[in-house]
Amino acid sequence: MDGGAQQPVRGAPVRVQGVSKSFGALRVVHDVSLEVGAGEFVSLLGPSGSGKTTLLMAIAGFEGVDSGRISIGNRDVTDVPANRRDVALVFQKYALFPHMTVAENIAFPLRMRRIDRRDIATRVESALAMVRLDGYGARMPGQLSGGQQQRVALARAIVFNPPVLLMDEPLGALDKKLRQHMQLEIKRLQARLGATVIYVTHDQEEALAMSDRIAVLRDGRLEQVGTPAALYDRPTNAFVADFIGDTNLLPVTVLEARREECAVRLGAATVRATAGADSIRVGSAALLAIRPERLSVRAGDDGTVNGEVRAHVYLGAGTSLLIATRAGHELTARLPAGASLAGLQVGAQVALDWQAGDTVVLPPLDAPS
Ligand SMILES: Nc1ncnc2c1ncn2[C@@H]1O[C@H](COP(=O)(O)OP(=O)(O)OP(=O)(O)O)[C@@H](O)[C@H]1O
Ligand SMILES: [Mg+2]
Repeated sequence: MDGGAQQPVRGAPVRVQGVSKSFGALRVVHDVSLEVGAGEFVSLLGPSGSGKTTLLMAIAGFEGVDSGRISIGNRDVTDVPANRRDVALVFQKYALFPHMTVAENIAFPLRMRRIDRRDIATRVESALAMVRLDGYGARMPGQLSGGQQQRVALARAIVFNPPVLLMDEPLGALDKKLRQHMQLEIKRLQARLGATVIYVTHDQEEALAMSDRIAVLRDGRLEQVGTPAALYDRPTNAFVADFIGDTNLLPVTVLEARREECAVRLGAATVRATAGADSIRVGSAALLAIRPERLSVRAGDDGTVNGEVRAHVYLGAGTSLLIATRAGHELTARLPAGASLAGLQVGAQVALDWQAGDTVVLPPLDAPS
């Protein structure tokens, strides 16, 4: 078994309570509260500038907060300096010391902690094995590929058995294939270490693939926190629906709203759907969110929505059809590979339908959810 000397640690819970942070007049983190369980993998997902790094640096202790509290392992660390928080950080840029060997790089956090020399050698070996770089200890960082360097950075982060691992776009500099491989490696490592991971990314596919839960940030505010499936199937606002996966958003008027069930007017049709937010009230304008793969398309003009096929986009694993509806909206429908495209050629009149349970009614984009 590789990494024999490394004992699995239990991750520590992380709690962020009402944290706000401004730079000058610009408030970049806005009253964020988030609880991350021991050993949980939570991603902070949001567009560039949404405050992900700032929030992560606040948890790490490299950035002070203006208000709110942060605790790690049930200890309030709001006023504790970064080097006493017992967290490890991995950044997008490998940030290895170029003049030190791989082994010296990995040993660095242990030397800082004044670990016994012989112990250091064993733990470095074991960390190298964990990231599958056995035998690379004597190399210089410049003699490694990008992916290997990032694995050394990972080894350096995990070598002191941190209960909390904070990562800021650690795979951002790698190509897609290597990124996917490293995603699996990080998940495997986390499962072995038991560490709590808070993982910053702006790549929604990466967040969906890796996370136990995802916290979606927009302009410094938490828009929604949930499992990948919950965010995908039951977004509570149009920003999340649009940011995670592809979504068709159609303007509708709410006709009936009873708890989660509602009916909306879509052009001339009345359709039933699930209300995604409490603010869905009778008479209000709203958006009906439908995933492209949930739309069924057939030749005809007696669908819930009807339109004309404008383009086919070949995706390998399927085909996207761009459809202009009679009401003047554009929709995307996705057919799996092998599905018949008969009668669905460009210019064809098509009828679109879906299951009520596959749609969510959401407040318009800039309304509070
Ligand atoms: N030290 C700083 N001084 C002033 N403004 C800052 C500072 N650091 C970040 N900001 C601003 O705070 C906002 C949030 O930045 P942050 O780096 O947290 O975003 P992000 O979500 O990590 O973005 P990206 O995906 O591009 O890394 C941005 O508008 C940024 O310009
Ligand atoms: Mg960032």
